[in-house]
Amino acid sequence: MQLLLAGASGGIGLAMLRQLLREARWVRIYALYRRPSPALESLAREEARLRLLQVDLSSDKDLAALPVSLEGPLNWVINTTGLLHDSESGKQPEKSLQQLQRDNLMAGFEANAVNHLLLIKALEPLLAKRETLKIASLSARVGSIGDNRLGGWYGYRASKAALNQLMHTLAIEMTRLNRQSVCVTLHPGTTDTALSRPFQARVPSHKLFTPAFAAGRLIEVLESLSPEETGRFFAWDGEAIPW
Ligand SMILES: NC(=O)c1ccc[n+]([C@@H]2O[C@H](COP(=O)([O-])OP(=O)(O)OC[C@H]3O[C@@H](n4cnc5c(N)ncnc54)[C@H](OP(=O)(O)O)[C@@H]3O)[C@@H](O)[C@H]2O)c1
Repeated sequence: MQLLLAGASGGIGLAMLRQLLREARWVRIYALYRRPSPALESLAREEARLRLLQVDLSSDKDLAALPVSLEGPLNWVINTTGLLHDSESGKQPEKSLQQLQRDNLMAGFEANAVNHLLLIKALEPLLAKRETLKIASLSARVGSIGDNRLGGWYGYRASKAALNQLMHTLAIEMTRLNRQSVCVTLHPGTTDTALSRPFQARVPSHKLFTPAFAAGRLIEVLESLSPEETGRFFAWDGEAIPW
């Protein structure tokens, strides 16, 4: 079995990678990262099964070159990349209409939705056609339109809703490619990473997960899903989230 994980240097991505490496069933794990990470490099020195690939998912050139570095078939593809705020560009989630900015909205859609689908487009020739095929992208509960009672965070909410729609549509096409396929979006729960750190003040400590806890639950949920559940949106505890 072969696995590809994107966002391997991120908070949840690295924790998922560490846990997946403990499973002997993975004969090869491709870990995609953008900014180099010492933790990832030290894992790669210890683990012959791990191949690190530097890929900016916003770069068409990087995506076009990616398949050449891989050997299929890929059985699991997990994408943990995403964007909520960016101190370099000053991007912050909007609290009100007047805070909306075109560049920030577009950057959020690119990182949280477009990049996820274009990664699968690049990988399509390598996806398992007869064996297990599970594709999961990390979304967020705030992307649920049915669950939105508080408002705010226009761009992040809408980009995650777009991701959910893209992955639902992909699931239908993937079933034609592989009838056993499972293609879903997953909500990790509020997890203590760089992405959530500026927004943790009002989160009760028992509701703030460690990356290791979230990673373990997400892997369990993905493992448990069957082809009948493809195209849906699940939380870290296995609960189905409404669109
Ligand atoms: N943490 C939470 O509470 C929470 C809650 C709900 C949903 N989520 C979702 O869970 C996922 C993981 O979040 P996290 O908390 O682990 O955040 P994180 O630590 O900020 O990790 C996000 C990762 O995405 C990568 N990334 C962003 N744009 C990229 C691009 N163009 N190409 C390649 N990599 C790119 C970043 O790479 P660099 O290191 O190079 O910047 C980073 O490693 C995200 O989709 C997030 O929206 C998180």
